Amino acid sequence: MAGQLIVGLDVSTRARAEEIVALLGDSVDFYKIGYQCFYGADGFALGKALIAAGKKVFFDLKLLDIDNTVEKGVAAFAETGASMLTVHAYPKTMRAAAKAAAGSGLTVLGVTVLTSMDDADVKEAGYERDAAGLVALRAQQARDAGIGGVVASPHEAEIVRTIIGSHMAIVTPGIRPAGSAAGDQKRIMGPAEALAMGASHLVVARPIIEAADPAAAARAILDEMNQGTRLA
Ligand code: C5P
Repeated sequence: MAGQLIVGLDVSTRARAEEIVALLGDSVDFYKIGYQCFYGADGFALGKALIAAGKKVFFDLKLLDIDNTVEKGVAAFAETGASMLTVHAYPKTMRAAAKAAAGSGLTVLGVTVLTSMDDADVKEAGYERDAAGLVALRAQQARDAGIGGVVASPHEAEIVRTIIGSHMAIVTPGIRPAGSAAGDQKRIMGPAEALAMGASHLVVARPIIEAADPAAAARAILDEMNQGTRLA
């Protein structure tokens, strides 16, 4: 699988988001809109405008609520023509989301364990499993719920791929090209390696949007991704 690059529009104004999209031009056709942009920069309207302009949009809103509310919320996103939406990887939540997205072009992703969390953080949150164990359990539950994919650290992509099979998406944040800062990500990996581990989509935000030249940074990552495809 060649793998797709998704650029995280983690910015606070719609103007800055549009500036980044314009700077990246045709080299990037998939954007992620998370909390910061959705709540702080009119991200729902921005996402719909990007879809109308022919871009693919991933709303990373990590939904969790009672099943009926999740179902109604997911249906609203499916209607926008969005390509991806995250929900927390609780079995009931994933089943409700799968039901609402059925027949639409929306791929529901279950968030296994945040890539900013390590074993100590997972333990502190009350789980007896380590991060890898929790990821494996949630990957299996995502598959059984019938959703379209999962978000996982690139370090768990290989084991997740063996659990969910070849058809579901594995979206990996925590990607850092050679020489860039980790930020708060604790389980990072290079683009080529992440694809070789079984990731289908790589989410990159800060290394691109905070670069002096975002277009050059995106091109460098796309080159590293192509290198990985050749190695695979
Ligand atoms: O700046 P950076 O490349 O670390 O951004 C990664 C993006 O992926 C952020 O928008 C973050 O919220 C998101 N994300 C993550 N880990 C997850 C799910 C989403 O880092 N498990």
